Amino acid sequence: MEHLLTGFELNQDGYVKLIELAQAMKADPKSYRRTLEGMSAALMFEKPSLRTRTTFELAMFNLGGHGVYLDLGKGDLGVRETVPDYARNLSRWVDCLVGRVFKQTTLEELAATGSVPVVNALSDLYHPAQVMADFMTIKEHLGHMDKVKVAYLGDGNNVANSLLVAGAILGAHVTCFCPLNCGPDVQIFTKAQAEAQKYGGSVQVTDDLSTLKDYDVLYTDTWVSMGDDTPLEQVKKRFLPYQINEQLVASSGAKIVMHCLPAHRGYEITDEVMDGPLSVVFDEAENRLHIHMALLATLLNPSAV
Ligand code: CP
Repeated sequence: MEHLLTGFELNQDGYVKLIELAQAMKADPKSYRRTLEGMSAALMFEKPSLRTRTTFELAMFNLGGHGVYLDLGKGDLGVRETVPDYARNLSRWVDCLVGRVFKQTTLEELAATGSVPVVNALSDLYHPAQVMADFMTIKEHLGHMDKVKVAYLGDGNNVANSLLVAGAILGAHVTCFCPLNCGPDVQIFTKAQAEAQKYGGSVQVTDDLSTLKDYDVLYTDTWVSMGDDTPLEQVKKRFLPYQINEQLVASSGAKIVMHCLPAHRGYEITDEVMDGPLSVVFDEAENRLHIHMALLATLLNPSAV
């Protein structure tokens, strides 16, 4: 793996090894304290973040390296200097570019014009590091990842796209329950379908909630992505049937409930479920740190892990 831009870069063995490494790092972080000694990463954020920023910065620190946070929220990237010039400058100083960006094409441009690995920390299309932590969490709670039945409910956004990608490659069965015209990206879905066939899993998209039965995992995310200014009443009307509440959890047979956070309590998930016995949302948040450590070590110093 040269970069992590989409999640399609890894095969099943790659995902499994990365998650095993994250579990080993979680169990014994002290053994990895010098893995990235003297190395650094630029953390380029065009959008706000709590989990991703904190855990990438801590991941570098925990491995003996250093993260340099670049606040690009004022729109500097590609304006103050071109994206390729950002990549060329930063490649002279740091060993990795971690980018949270508005457009996937920005990450592709950074990767094409820089000379160090680029990691997608969320774009309009993908959130691959998030779903790696999510499948690690599934493995911790259910004991396996292949054949696990995951129902994603709500907006077919970047997280939904990435769940399809990682789930397909890990041999899981992922169904996105989304309102009409709110499904995941069609091209990504089609590519994920080919991966699912290869690995014995499946991916589906439907708006029919009557088929939401016998799923192991329920997963949701915000109905309003950053930058979306659709009126809230319109959003609620469209998505409320897909809310994860106690009644929906009971009828689904789910063993765990997931949310990548931040949550909008009372919208995509109720307090009772988020704070209830099946919720693993803060395990997911914790595992962002361990998976980012594994990811950065694998990309920057593979011979050490
Ligand atoms: N889940 C996630 O990416 O959280 P942040 O937006 O806080 O980084």
